Amino acid sequence: MDRIELRGARSLTGEFTPPPDKSISHRAVIFSALAKGESSVKNFLIAEDTLSTVSAFRSLGIDLEGRGGELLIRGKGIHGLKEPANVIDCRNSGTTMRLLSGVLSGNPFFSVLSGDDSLRKRPMQRVIVPLRQMGAGIVGRDNDRYPPLAIRGGGLKPIEYRLPVASAQVKSAILLAGLYARGETEVLEPLPSRDHTERMLTAFGAEIIVRGPSVRVKGMADLRGRETIVPGDFSSAAFFLVASLLMDDSGIIMKNVGINPTRIGLMNVLKRMGAEIIVENVHEVSGEPVADISCGAGKPLRAITIPAEEMPLLIDEVPILCVAATQAEGVTEITGAEELRVKESDRIKAMATELKKFGAELEERPGGMLIKGKTPLKGCAVESYGDHRIAMSLSIAALIAEGTTTINNASCVDISFPGFFEELERLSR
Ligand code: S3P
Repeated sequence: MDRIELRGARSLTGEFTPPPDKSISHRAVIFSALAKGESSVKNFLIAEDTLSTVSAFRSLGIDLEGRGGELLIRGKGIHGLKEPANVIDCRNSGTTMRLLSGVLSGNPFFSVLSGDDSLRKRPMQRVIVPLRQMGAGIVGRDNDRYPPLAIRGGGLKPIEYRLPVASAQVKSAILLAGLYARGETEVLEPLPSRDHTERMLTAFGAEIIVRGPSVRVKGMADLRGRETIVPGDFSSAAFFLVASLLMDDSGIIMKNVGINPTRIGLMNVLKRMGAEIIVENVHEVSGEPVADISCGAGKPLRAITIPAEEMPLLIDEVPILCVAATQAEGVTEITGAEELRVKESDRIKAMATELKKFGAELEERPGGMLIKGKTPLKGCAVESYGDHRIAMSLSIAALIAEGTTTINNASCVDISFPGFFEELERLSR
């Protein structure tokens, strides 16, 4: 299945449980592998990206096994990894590569991290610079710009590091390396980014101190094995949330969705655009807030300007926000989204190019887009660029468009959301 045909639909109704959170699933594997003793991960995301992290830890000598719907991991402590016999292939997963670069920088052996065509074009200097300051031997292709990365780690010292751009992956890489440095490592963020690492490292027994924009970790920590229950992924739920707002007669209930405040920027933006979204049954699971979310067709959406400060809180949801903006009255302005150009694809260019094919009126800007609505969309032939979030955003555009749309390279949805098309088919009419 590498080309999918989708027909316009009228409504989206029913109950839906999003797949487990990708960011939290990666971290649960990494921290469990670095903890002493047995850990289990319940509701682990079985998708291409997270399986890249699983196979990476197998090649580092860790025993991981799926049993009865959970992942069991026999961790050996932060010093328990072994030198991998081959290059570690992170495939499409930036989180695997960047977080592992921090772990491997702390380990006194040689390792090489590589990935697919997309990952090998993604910037790595952002992790190389701080990890080298900590004392790791780490180099990358093209003057340290890109993967593959070759690492000879060990002998780290703590640093205080101000991140030039908000990035949870870079923050996490430094904190993970900080586990191996004697003393306190500090990361200062220009804007808050997702904080799953801080929450989960604390739960595993590391000493993490968060004060405003500063996160500090005490080195030489002893992590202890534990159970982690992964909530549903808000980033995957986002496609259904937006679809339900844009299609008449729609109403859906999304169960067990992670609502960590550093992840739900899109929900706040949509509410300001006029959407009615109800969050109920809020509770905590493994240190993360979780809830059920009801949403559906209501008042028409109004265009707004999304300020740069909010961008890290909705960075992965900008492609689907672009689709929503085509149906909002007025001009929606997305600013401060330069980072989107260095994701799995150049997501600003990809959405601008493909939404124009549907008939959307928009202008691409270096750091975002101006989108004029409300414009009826027409079915067409589009390209996903092998980027899962582009494929899923275009699928929602196809659903609200008149006629039939074909999406090329659609199987990349398996990177974060296997079964996406089946769920869309089940709920739409
Ligand atoms: C992620 C952080 C974000 C996000 C990515 C997952 C993570 O990337 O876009 O999908 O799990 O830490 P950056 O750290 O590059 O902003």
